[in-house]
Amino acid sequence: MEEKIRVGLIGAGRAGMIHARNMACRVQGAQVVCVSDAEESNARSAAQEFGCEYAADYRTLLERSDIDAVIIAVPTKYHRRIVVEAAGYKKHIFCEKPMAMNVRECEDMIRAAEQNHVILQIGFMRRFDESFRRAKEIVETGSIGEVVMVKSLTHGPSTPHEWMYDIAKSNGPLAEVNSHDIDTLRWLTGAEVLSVYALAGNFRCGKVREDYPDFYDSVLMSVRMDNGMIGCIDGAQGVEYGYDARVDIMGTKGLITIGDLKGKSTITYTKSGGFQGDVVKSWMDLFSEAYIREDQSFIQSILENRAPDVSGWDGMMAVDVVRAGNESIRTGNIVWLNGKQGKG
Ligand SMILES: NC(=O)c1ccc[n+]([C@@H]2O[C@H](COP(=O)([O-])OP(=O)(O)OC[C@H]3O[C@@H](n4cnc5c(N)ncnc54)[C@H](O)[C@@H]3O)[C@@H](O)[C@H]2O)c1
Repeated sequence: MEEKIRVGLIGAGRAGMIHARNMACRVQGAQVVCVSDAEESNARSAAQEFGCEYAADYRTLLERSDIDAVIIAVPTKYHRRIVVEAAGYKKHIFCEKPMAMNVRECEDMIRAAEQNHVILQIGFMRRFDESFRRAKEIVETGSIGEVVMVKSLTHGPSTPHEWMYDIAKSNGPLAEVNSHDIDTLRWLTGAEVLSVYALAGNFRCGKVREDYPDFYDSVLMSVRMDNGMIGCIDGAQGVEYGYDARVDIMGTKGLITIGDLKGKSTITYTKSGGFQGDVVKSWMDLFSEAYIREDQSFIQSILENRAPDVSGWDGMMAVDVVRAGNESIRTGNIVWLNGKQGKG
């Protein structure tokens, strides 16, 4: 009989339900056995969907000996505590991005996973997207020569949640939106970030300007990698026009582009000279296949007893770049990273 990894979900919100649905129906070798959410009604309705048990307190889930692995998809400020406790219960861990609030928390999480010999994978699903993987393969063939510049853009349609306005508590859009772009730059250049310079502004969320003067809804960050390559990260929230995720990879002999706001669109042209088509609405649609492959890869790494495809080190490096970016916005200076470059 096929061996199944028994999965528990902690946090049955937007991201958590994507993973749990994948684990229940689309991922080979996995089954969902329990769901936990601080809002008991969320946990109950998710459990009904999966025909499994539920708990309001995540510790009840962690104490169960019939759970091999957990998906942690609660707000970022709780990641450290729950990951460290889950590792103590010897559960393999998939933790959503951003990994944590700061590097110290990430170090605690990595140490807990190592000491308890469990897998810790961080949720950078773009690495599993077909177009991103293809781009990485093309880079590795050398057909665009040496990569010299990577520009990665993410614009989200919706206005930020209330808790995001306080940058000290949320780390802002650089964390919530652009963690993916930071990881993309590291992954595609094979290098670590050496220094950043970021400019930001609040152009759409005028009503919170007085209460949260530090909040920004738009950011541009120039990046120097430790191998000399350069990059640019462009982020925005509340853009309304759609979900926009694009990358340009410029090499000495060519260019690769990833993504298109039109998605798999049908475009209609009319006599009046206008044209109309579809726009990608949400990350859930754009990356639905990537989430399935990401979840499959997590289960596979447990079954094969191998390192995960995206590690705690990858999560921690992105958190450190977010810190540097926010410091640059605050001070107006170029910020150098703390000699943390190197491979983990
Ligand atoms: N990889 C991605 O593209 C992606 C996309 C969206 C969100 N995320 C990340 O996933 C995490 C969750 O975000 P979301 O958008 O799903 O949030 P959400 O608000 O939709 O869901 C979070 C859920 O966690 C529950 N919760 C809160 N505290 C809890 C606790 N202590 N124990 C158990 N449950 C608790 C809430 O009741 C809620 O149901 C965040 O870190 C976010 O950055 C990643």
